[in-house]
Amino acid sequence: MTTSQGPRAHWSNRWAFFLVTVGSAVGLGNIWKFPYMTGSNGGSAFVLVYLACILAIGVPLLMAETLLGRRGQGNPVATMRVLADEAGATRWWQVIGLIGIVGAFIILSFYSVVAGWVLEYTWRAASGFAALPKEAFADAFGALLASPGKLIFWHTVFMALTAAVVLGGVTSGIERANKIMMPALFAILVFLVGYGALAADLPAAFRFLFHFDPSAINRGVLFAAMGHAFFTLSLGMGAIITYGSYLGREVSIPRTCLAIAAADTGVALLAGLSIFAIVFAQGLEPAAGPGLLLQTLPLAFSQMPGGHVVGLVFFVLVVFAAWTSAISLLEPGVSLLVERFDLGRKAAVTLLSSGVWLLGVAVALSFNEWSAFSLFGLGLFDLLDTLTTKIMMPLAGLLIALFAAWTMKRAHVEEEVGLRGGAFRLWYGVVRYVSPVAIVLIFLNVIGILG
Ligand code: TRP
Repeated sequence: MTTSQGPRAHWSNRWAFFLVTVGSAVGLGNIWKFPYMTGSNGGSAFVLVYLACILAIGVPLLMAETLLGRRGQGNPVATMRVLADEAGATRWWQVIGLIGIVGAFIILSFYSVVAGWVLEYTWRAASGFAALPKEAFADAFGALLASPGKLIFWHTVFMALTAAVVLGGVTSGIERANKIMMPALFAILVFLVGYGALAADLPAAFRFLFHFDPSAINRGVLFAAMGHAFFTLSLGMGAIITYGSYLGREVSIPRTCLAIAAADTGVALLAGLSIFAIVFAQGLEPAAGPGLLLQTLPLAFSQMPGGHVVGLVFFVLVVFAAWTSAISLLEPGVSLLVERFDLGRKAAVTLLSSGVWLLGVAVALSFNEWSAFSLFGLGLFDLLDTLTTKIMMPLAGLLIALFAAWTMKRAHVEEEVGLRGGAFRLWYGVVRYVSPVAIVLIFLNVIGILG
């Protein structure tokens, strides 16, 4: 049931877009980053600001990015060219597509290294985590980071898995992989929350995430939460434009985007609940940082009843989540190479994933051999994360808001988004004023001009 007017591939039905975009959105951001960021940014304060950012910036921009993609029907750069021409505006707007593709390239390089840690831990979980003292788990993670061979091996495996799916194409690769992994992911998540309710300390987790404490909100929390709202919804990096470009006209953008954001936020909160329920039940530290998933949880799994099975199932969930996200980071660049340089899909996937792989090797080495390197006081990993999440994504998001709400013809936007009357005016007003102002204010605040 595609409505393709040309040879361009389209999702096979309206569910497919929902599924693949949730697949893109739900990833390490939800299960690895969100819990540890919440843990180290004061719990509920971070959750509150994050939810506000999702509503005021995330959802409106998700709709904007999807409508750009569907109207442009091309890779992110081509889409922006078509739409700029249609609006009679400068072709400089193509820079949105370019920032996206470069950003996605960078994100995938470190994303794949982290996914590699998860693969190693899935492997370890399969044989069960031995009940050892706390330090042993920290040491085990430290030893992994200190081992370039292991890091590069698993990073290579993960890139190969990602490339293999993208190689299959839009429907028989990306769509099919998501149709298998996403339902499995939800089933596992429900199981884990059930386990958390029965065997772990769900009330303590609930208090930690939702106890209202505005006094903990500060500059750092605001910036981190905004960056994370972009990251978790896969915004600004061409992924949504690209997925939207494979979208048929029969789909309602507002309804689907709301459902996508709700699913993404739901998964983050559920993952947070089950992880902190386990952490608190075992009397562990919630503010453990990036190691929360890989030091604290295995320790908990080693001590709790049924921990062997729960641990394995949990890490499989994280692998699926990371895999379906990584696919969406590779596809935008592949679509550009295929359409613009007339490469075959195979050549494009090979070329791009080799490049990403190489940068990822540098990231892997930055944890050990090259750990002395730093710029602005950040190691390569933090540098790339900060550059993309906190700078490139909000910048691209700002440009997308400005383009959709100030440069495109209002009638075109209205037709594409399919909202009428007050609902349209509300969304349009938010994208026109609220989202750009919020992004700029948070930026200025961080630079120290405000506050
Ligand atoms: N949203 C994913 C996560 O939460 C990461 C991701 C996938 C992403 N595709 C993206 C982030 C595109 C930015 C842009 O893990």
